[in-house]
Amino acid sequence: MSLEGNSIGKEFVITCFGESHGRCVGVVIDGCPAGLPLSEQDIQKELDRRIPPKPEIVSARREKDIVEILSGTFNGFTTGAPICTLVWNKEVIPGEYDPIKDTPRPGHADYPVRIKYGSFNDYRGGGRFSGRITVAFVMAGAIAKKLLGLFGVEVLAYAVEIGRVKLRAMPTFEEIRENTYKTAVRCPDSERAKEMEEAILRAKRGGDSVGGIVECIASNVPVGAGEPLFDSLDADIAKMLFDVPAVKGVEFGVGFEAARLKGSENNDPYVIRDGKIVTLTNNAGGILGGLSSGMPILVRAAIKPTPSISKEQKTVDLSKMEETLIRVKGRHDPCIVPKAVPVIESAVAIVLADHMLRAGFIPKVLGGQR
Ligand SMILES: Cc1cc2nc3c(=O)[nH]c(=O)nc-3n(C[C@H](O)[C@H](O)[C@H](O)COP(=O)(O)O)c2cc1C
Repeated sequence: MSLEGNSIGKEFVITCFGESHGRCVGVVIDGCPAGLPLSEQDIQKELDRRIPPKPEIVSARREKDIVEILSGTFNGFTTGAPICTLVWNKEVIPGEYDPIKDTPRPGHADYPVRIKYGSFNDYRGGGRFSGRITVAFVMAGAIAKKLLGLFGVEVLAYAVEIGRVKLRAMPTFEEIRENTYKTAVRCPDSERAKEMEEAILRAKRGGDSVGGIVECIASNVPVGAGEPLFDSLDADIAKMLFDVPAVKGVEFGVGFEAARLKGSENNDPYVIRDGKIVTLTNNAGGILGGLSSGMPILVRAAIKPTPSISKEQKTVDLSKMEETLIRVKGRHDPCIVPKAVPVIESAVAIVLADHMLRAGFIPKVLGGQR
């Protein structure tokens, strides 16, 4: 049995490698056009956004995550060859996971992974099933976002809900861009952000964790990205988002609420504004028939509460086939949402880069002398 499914995309293809407690976490990006200006700094600044500045709301594992680009660039530009980037794992504590090797953590991947891969599985820190793998998403996302930016597409994500504290009104694009990273929980409303932080700390004090919802908006995506039937834009975005560990739900536009509306309430009427066809509302979330409609793409991902908690829970000791109790100690995020915000943004950007290439909106070689 092998660990398959490590690549995604048809033209902008990413392959993630590495484990939580292995030597490194990295990604190979194949299909990025030649001629994109790319430096380590472009990727580093995105990686730095993955770790919220307040140590009390994130895991005590504080990796520096200094990116290295191993291939695919020359004179500061991509060459069109596969780009390989990685970060080295440094903050690994040997033996940290030995005590719970045989007692699967409720809510984590441990049990099905152990049954499927047996003793070959690298269980340390969740191995391939660790949130740390999302460092690779952010590195690939940095490149995808830079590429999309050349074509006017901007992708922004932010926390809209944490531990039942909700944003009361949808922020403007400018507010999201300016304010999201001013708060440790990655919410553009500083008042709600404080309440969200308190909700995280309250759960943490009780040996527990909380979940939340990340919203992502992509603006200026031209009409027609997406390849129906089976590579619809919404289907591909949803697939990529469900590949982010801990994502349990994905909805576009009004999402599940559409089931409760009448056609006349749910339809987005067309009008002409400044010579452009737009819709008065955006209940569809910018995608119709699996194709981008030209309206902003609006997608939300529901993130579950962190499974590793210090509260006592039932589990089974697989080596003795006996019921037992587990309290997960060690270094865990009391809430995944703040770290997931740039990950969700990256995931959406990766799919959009792929579809913009597939639809011919982005050429294989960018500008310059051929
Ligand atoms: C950015 C990020 C950080 C995470 N941190 C933790 C963590 O500290 N502890 C933990 O138990 N799970 C953490 N997770 C979640 C687990 O990786 C995930 O729940 C597990 O692999 C099971 O997958 P599933 O929840 O998608 O079913 C994190 C996920 C992400 C995306």
